[in-house]
Formats: sequence, C-alpha cells, structure tokens
Amino acid sequence: MEAAGKHDIRGEINEAGQSSSVGLIIRQKEPHNLESPFDQVRSFLTPTELFYIRSHFPAPKVELASYRLRIDGAVRNPFSLTYTELRDMQSETRVAVLECAGNSRVFLVPQVEGAQWELGAVGNAEWTGVPLRALLERAGMEEDACEIVFEGADRGTPVEKPIPPGPISYARSLPREKAVQPEVLIAYQMNGRDLPQDHGYPVRAIVPGHYGMASVKWLTRIHAVREPFQGYWQTSDYGYWDDLDGQPVRKPLGEMKLKSEIARPRVYEVLAPNQVYTVAGAAWAGETEVTEITVSTDGGQTWGPAEFIDPAQRYAWRRWQLQWRTPTTPGRYTLLARAKAANGQVQPDAHDLSYGTYVIDHPLPIEVFVGEPAASAR
Ligand code: MTE
Repeated sequence: MEAAGKHDIRGEINEAGQSSSVGLIIRQKEPHNLESPFDQVRSFLTPTELFYIRSHFPAPKVELASYRLRIDGAVRNPFSLTYTELRDMQSETRVAVLECAGNSRVFLVPQVEGAQWELGAVGNAEWTGVPLRALLERAGMEEDACEIVFEGADRGTPVEKPIPPGPISYARSLPREKAVQPEVLIAYQMNGRDLPQDHGYPVRAIVPGHYGMASVKWLTRIHAVREPFQGYWQTSDYGYWDDLDGQPVRKPLGEMKLKSEIARPRVYEVLAPNQVYTVAGAAWAGETEVTEITVSTDGGQTWGPAEFIDPAQRYAWRRWQLQWRTPTTPGRYTLLARAKAANGQVQPDAHDLSYGTYVIDHPLPIEVFVGEPAASAR
C-alpha cells in the first residue's frame, strides 16, 4: 500500500494552504461534468481540486445525521449502518485510478454524441474506507447471490436513449467475484480528507480496476441479487456489444483497458527545434500492471522506450517520461504513446466499434509544431 507523502501527495500545484493557478475544464455546467487539465499531471496523486467530476444528475445533499447505508437482498442478516458506525469499522487506504469510460471521446472521428472529454476524465487518488467484503460477511451473503447492486441517492431522468418513463436513481452492479476482493472499498475519504460533495459525500463505492461508472457516489444501498441486474446504467448506458455464437449481445462495461496518455506536450503546442523536450504522461490498466511504454514522435513509424517515474502498482497509474530532441526541420509532428502490461496486453491500433462511444484505448495522436505553427493553426 502507498504511504501518504511518498509521492508528493498534494502535488506541486497545490501545496497545503497555497492557491492553485489552474482549475477544471467545464464540459457541462449542470449536472457537473468537469475535466481535469491533464497537461498538469505532475504528481503521483491527482490533487482533489483537479480530479475530474462526472455526474449524471445534480449532486444530492445527503445529511450526515439521517444518513443510513443499507445492506440487503440475498443476505441472511440485512442491516443498516449510520455514518459514524461505518467510520468506526476497520478501514483501509488504497490508491486507485478512476477513468470515465468515455474519456478521450473527442478523439473519435467522426464525432460521436456524449460529453466531449479530452484526456482528463481520469485521475489517480488515495481512497480510504471499509472493504466491501467486510460488510458482505457481516450480512451473510447467500451462496446464490451473483451480483452486488450499488445504489446512489441521486435521481433524475437520463438523457441517453432509450429514456426510461420516469426518474431513476444511479445504480450499478458488480459481479460477486469482484465484489469480494479486498480492494473494493466503501470509501469516505479521498486524498486524506472527507469526500467532497461532487465526489460522493459522504460515502461512495470505489472499484479499483473498473471504469469509473462502477464507483457509485452518494451510496445509500448495497443490494445482493440472484439474477444479473439489468438496470439502465448497464444495459442502455455503459454497455457494449459482445458476440454470443455469432449474435451480438449487450454486456455491461467493467474492467478498464490498458491505456497510456501524453500529458506534455499538448495538442498543437509549439516547440523549439533541436532542443531537449521532456515528453511526459501516465498509463494505467485494469487487473494487471503497466510494464512498458513506447513513444513515437513520427506518427507511429518508429517507437522508442520511455522511462517510468512511478513503480508498478496494480490499480494506480504509472507516470512516465522521455527526453526528446526535437527535430531541426520545422513542421508538424505527431506523438503517440503505447503501453504494454504484465498480462501481455498491448494497446490496440484503433478504437473497437463494439464499444460505441466508450473505451477509447488506442494510442491518441498528439500533434505539435516544431519551429513555428502551421499557417492554418495560427
Ligand atoms: N455515482 C452516482 N451516484 N451518480 C453518477 O452520476 N457517475 C459515475 C460514477 N459514480 C455517477 C456515479 C461515473 S460515469 C464516473 S466516471 C464516476 O462516478 C466519476 O467519479 P468522480 O466524479 O468522483 O470523478
């Protein structure tokens, strides 16, 4: 487990007590959908103020005094916990990346519907809470329970079609095998402080290794079910097309795919010719570790290895860098980064259409100008 402070925890941007000169980028004003400025990644942990926010409905105001977390369904002893009772339980602290499944959507050509996230619907934070499995043990989960449904306190009518007839709450299920793993937390702290309202105050699920949609915020109910949950957020939205004996079938998104992103330089940044420039980024994966990054500065013709800044640690991201001597010839250059993982996974060349507007995990082209910007970009 990562010790706080080992990796300049609050980052260089926002040391305790100092104001920050950068902020989040608005993708949607209300409900809050705000993107992290990915070019600012300079610390192992994303400062809380710079962590992206992805909410489908306005953030609910949950009162601590009346807050209850209910654990029920296919369990022998259903029970409810107050906030204080949850905080009195034995806790764990873990570092985990959250990446929204729609991160980098803006790179898809032709353009698709949905929030136009660039590189910053992702962040790496330290989460503190009670392991879900401790709660499931206490409740006595039945043998035939196959999934755990997390339900949030937020409600509304979703915008993605088909639109349900009335308001629904945000609810998502997790397969039993993942739910009982020690890394899945019922969290109340982020980077050593109580969760901010936009990130799920007072309590949220954290599912390391899965896309962000699994980490349900404003959590009020943990419900064990005997049949796979068919809710809106795993069939209509946050689903993909799988193949069953030649027939396309809808499945819920789950584990994050391996991905590396370039933080610096930025798209259309102008760089001096024949200078050493530090290309930098971060890479993450699902149930494996990132083991190698290669970078191309010529649009994918040649690739060279980058060096890691952070150690390999499952569920956390690994920052990396590469010293690049920029070309002497002015012009437009395309940078790409590609990750490999311990389980043999490599980032694919292109976006897989069966994921629709989600899982944009191919190397993303970062175009820059060396010397002077092209006339068309000025
Ligand atoms: N939980 C609730 N209750 N409501 C939501 O809209 N959004 C999900 C997930 N949990 C959501 C939610 C999605 S799509 C993502 S990517 C993550 O929360 C984002 O978490 P963050 O806003 O703390 O970054």
